[in-house]
Amino acid sequence: MGGYILAIDQGTTSSRTVVFDGDMTIAGVGQQEFTQHFPSSGWVEHDAEEIWRSVLATVRTALAKASVSAADITAIGITNQRETTVVWDRRTGEPMHRAIVWQDRRTARFCEELKEKGLEPKFTEKTGLLLDPYFSGTKLAWLLENVEGLRARAEAGEVCFGTVDSWLIYKLTDGKVHVTDATNASRTLLYNIGENRWDDELLSILGIPAAMLPEVKDCAADFGVTDPAIFGVAIPILGVAGDQQAAVIGNACFEPGMMKSTYGTGCFALLNTGTDRVASSNRLLTTIAYRLDGVTTYALEGSIFIAGAAVQWLRDELGFIGVSSEVGALAMKADPNQRVYLVPAFTGLGAPYWDAEARGAIFGLTRSTGPEEFARAALESVAYQTHDLLEAMKKDWKGAADKTVLRVDGGMVASDWTMQRLADILASPVDRPVILETTVLGAAWLAGSRAGIWPDRQGFAEHWRRDHRFEPVMPEAERLTAIAGWHDSVSRCLTKRR
Ligand code: G3P
Repeated sequence: MGGYILAIDQGTTSSRTVVFDGDMTIAGVGQQEFTQHFPSSGWVEHDAEEIWRSVLATVRTALAKASVSAADITAIGITNQRETTVVWDRRTGEPMHRAIVWQDRRTARFCEELKEKGLEPKFTEKTGLLLDPYFSGTKLAWLLENVEGLRARAEAGEVCFGTVDSWLIYKLTDGKVHVTDATNASRTLLYNIGENRWDDELLSILGIPAAMLPEVKDCAADFGVTDPAIFGVAIPILGVAGDQQAAVIGNACFEPGMMKSTYGTGCFALLNTGTDRVASSNRLLTTIAYRLDGVTTYALEGSIFIAGAAVQWLRDELGFIGVSSEVGALAMKADPNQRVYLVPAFTGLGAPYWDAEARGAIFGLTRSTGPEEFARAALESVAYQTHDLLEAMKKDWKGAADKTVLRVDGGMVASDWTMQRLADILASPVDRPVILETTVLGAAWLAGSRAGIWPDRQGFAEHWRRDHRFEPVMPEAERLTAIAGWHDSVSRCLTKRR
């Protein structure tokens, strides 16, 4: 048979594998959750071996569901939770600590110290990022400081550092290949995105030995072949991108000015700025959207840490809903005369506020506030946060014109009510695609096009289909009042004066 593409999406709470047939249609899916470790307040860790086992299990399930064998897979694409930091023994492949997850805030103090030394502009100029615990660099510095013997072994070249893509490729190739792609590298705080290389000066500031870093490749490239002992055949790995960048590709946002926003645990909005590397004056990130055939395409990114997680909070902590999909119907029943705001700063606030110490709050409660108003406030918080990102993007770059249409994906976008609210608060149309699996589709396209069995960029973009366009209908005065209330609420949660 042949002609199938297998795409692995290794996410924050679960691993997923999708088998696509030659028509880019989903043939089989496997998904498995894995353990979240919270060893201390604000710390989040994953067991890299458990991640690997979960990936293997989902590959097997996806193949079985698609009724195809590994020999039918032409190529593999990988996409992954970004920034999460893994270190392992180069010879044995044994992890030397649990992976430190992107959400982990343990290096907040260290980031502050670096800022106090006036180093943030240097990091931003070279990497497009800010000094926040979110990124890999300070997590890796923490590991080198705190894991006994790690630094000496890293200097001797005996240890590998990688984001999750790198770790999975190492495992899939049985330790033969230590690589990553430009999008994942661009999230480490160590990679110079203008010069496309690891930056010696930043490595020296953070005390990171270059010997532990992976080789950086284009997103569609030869990342090695799977060891035949794993699936019975050697399958080439031909595509890699961080999950948010893969969603840019999967949503076919290939032209400057095109923008996508993914609503999963958090929300990540990326605006394609083409080959222009736009520096943000409004606390957004500049990042690599993709690098294909040696050409780097950049994006402005707004990262929000809590989106779908607010719905999970309503479900798991407050018990207001039984399953997440009930939230839209509950919000629709909210009293329109109550203005309740939830600022979901459960793990601090990301863009454009970047306040690691801020914590969540709810405002506007009255005696008659109930689950309906909480549900509406949680969904609206996602719309307001996206609004703040879009406004910052418009200030930063003229290419983000008023006519920008947002392409959305992720679990939350299934709710019509939420998407309509989003369009209303943004005062901009919101396009929901037919294929909501855009992240994994993006990784599959990288591999499939590299293998020559899927269309090129233009052909793939033509294949993108809209399920529905949500047009804004909210009167402007009402919108502005709502947004003013949101900003007032956020300002009461911030610990830092902006
Ligand atoms: O930057 C973090 C992001 O890549 C995580 O995405 O979908 O695994 O929550 P997700």
